[in-house]
Amino acid sequence: MTARALSFDAVAELYDTSRPGYPPALFDAVEEAGGRPFAGSVTVDVGAGTGIATRSLLARGARVTAVEPGPGMAGRLHSVLPDVPLVRALGDALPLVDESADFVTYAQSWHWTDRARAFGEAMRVLRPGGALALFWNVSDHSVPWVAAQDARLRAHGGDGGHGIHGAREQGPLLPEGVEFEGRRVPWSRTVTLDAHLDNFASHSVFRVLGESSTAAFLAAERAELLKVFPDGAVEESYVSDLVVVRRPV
Ligand SMILES: C[S@@+](CC[C@H](N)C(=O)[O-])C[C@H]1O[C@@H](n2cnc3c(N)ncnc32)[C@H](O)[C@@H]1O
Repeated sequence: MTARALSFDAVAELYDTSRPGYPPALFDAVEEAGGRPFAGSVTVDVGAGTGIATRSLLARGARVTAVEPGPGMAGRLHSVLPDVPLVRALGDALPLVDESADFVTYAQSWHWTDRARAFGEAMRVLRPGGALALFWNVSDHSVPWVAAQDARLRAHGGDGGHGIHGAREQGPLLPEGVEFEGRRVPWSRTVTLDAHLDNFASHSVFRVLGESSTAAFLAAERAELLKVFPDGAVEESYVSDLVVVRRPV
């Protein structure tokens, strides 16, 4: 694994408490495209991190096994979800038996894998007819302040490479010729300015940039955001991008 892929480990708690979750409409869309509900399903949540998506899957009644390679993220997941079976592994080589899962989910983690290997592994572990679901939250750049913030982030060395767009810039999402269903789910949440900046600081680009330039960026960002949200309540706008592939029956 690259240092950047593992860099979440250093901020596992901040990550867990500040990252947005995923909207119910996204899980509805996965169920629809996957042709069955999560309730009663065997679901493998890969790159589970601290368990943000895992918690939503459990709430829907899925029987979830979490797969997470990073020790810090896995430690946090285990402390908040002690009853969830947790496997320390990469999606590129899943230590799970063939045809054992109804769903394999990758919440914001597919872009860290060797995609050809991870795809082969997901198809092996899924039952015929089972579904591989890849999803990402991306900031909604059709909202002017979000687009302006992204421009500032890029000016500070950020690559904007989050989400499905960043993943596609790095190479094809899926092996050539694989059929998939794509959906986009817009949603928003209102958080305090501090929570918004914490979420920002949990992005991998800042941990690679280092502490002093991160602090400078966040101070300037606080001043900019107070111009848009003088009461300190930030309405974050997102789109959840979803790609679902069914294993042929
Ligand atoms: C952005 S976090 C997403 C965590 C969680 N799924 C969520 O929605 O908050 C990406 C996670 O992928 C993990 N990861 C990195 N490389 C991976 C790989 N090759 N296979 C599976 N997970 C990987 C990282 O350790 C990290 O916990």
